[in-house]
Amino acid sequence: MKGLIVINANGFSEESFKQVSALKSKFDERSVAIDIRTNSDLLTYIDSDGNIFKDHLMKYDFVVYLDKDPYIAFLIQKLGIRMFNSASSIYLCDDKMLTHIALANSNIKMPKTIASPLVYDHFHEDDFKKKIMKELAFPLIVKEVYGSLGLRVHLINDEYELDNIMKKLERVPHIYQQFIKSSYGVDIRVIVINHKVVVKMKRIAKDDFRSNIHLGGRGEKIDLDPRFSKMAIDASKILGLDYCGVDILIGEEGEPILCEVNSNAFFDHISKISGVDVAKTYVDYIIKCMNRKKKGTKL
Ligand SMILES: Nc1ncnc2c1ncn2[C@@H]1O[C@H](COP(=O)(O)OP(=O)(O)O)[C@@H](O)[C@H]1O
Ligand SMILES: [Mg+2]
Repeated sequence: MKGLIVINANGFSEESFKQVSALKSKFDERSVAIDIRTNSDLLTYIDSDGNIFKDHLMKYDFVVYLDKDPYIAFLIQKLGIRMFNSASSIYLCDDKMLTHIALANSNIKMPKTIASPLVYDHFHEDDFKKKIMKELAFPLIVKEVYGSLGLRVHLINDEYELDNIMKKLERVPHIYQQFIKSSYGVDIRVIVINHKVVVKMKRIAKDDFRSNIHLGGRGEKIDLDPRFSKMAIDASKILGLDYCGVDILIGEEGEPILCEVNSNAFFDHISKISGVDVAKTYVDYIIKCMNRKKKGTKL
């Protein structure tokens, strides 16, 4: 069995280095050969005959796709190579609005969410702004649809701040969202593999409305309310994810409200505070899937 891990060409952040190393060493322990390539040096493309160039890829039985680049993901998937996660799941998770749309009408509570209109040119922002203010009270949340680590999520307190962010993001796909006050600086992160909860933590911000570990938040062990587990599992099933980290906000009555789903959630911190070996669980699952695939049975 031979696998490929695909990472982004931007290189390693400390977190992604830990992620790749942990997975690689678990594959090594199971004697599964792994190559690591970036989405740029992989050079997968459509040939002038209209077919996907595949010579360098057909030696792989599976791909663990730790990047979000949908083009390379869809090209690899079209060759019939098993992807962890699938290209379409990665695509839906990468765009926060597409995630909310995919999960809508499925009994999953979410903050009221409005997509910014995607426009070719300048449009009457004032009318749209009035609609936003009618639908959402201040403070409200504005998020770029592509973003992670809390870096592109903003708390907007008044019309002046709304004006500024609307100008700044005029050409950037983004969403306007109800701010869940009861979840200020705290949320629940749940790692789900094969539609089962593997580990969970409460994330508590240092001094911010965002609880991301990257922004200085810390994780704490918790007993998970079954409503939160159900939400995380349901989301992973609807989005068709082998692996994911689901962020869940806490409503006024303590109820779960879905924030976002990460197809590539980092597991170093959550593994450390919980003692759960997430890399091993994921690698064991991948190998089991591939063995079943060989035998022609599905996991
Ligand atoms: N609607 C919201 N209400 C309250 N807090 C929110 C809301 N959306 C996001 N947050 C906070 O901001 C953090 C980052 O938002 P998230 O959507 O998970 O983006 P990222 O991909 O950058 O992590 C969340 O973990 C949560 O603490
Ligand atoms: Mg998040």
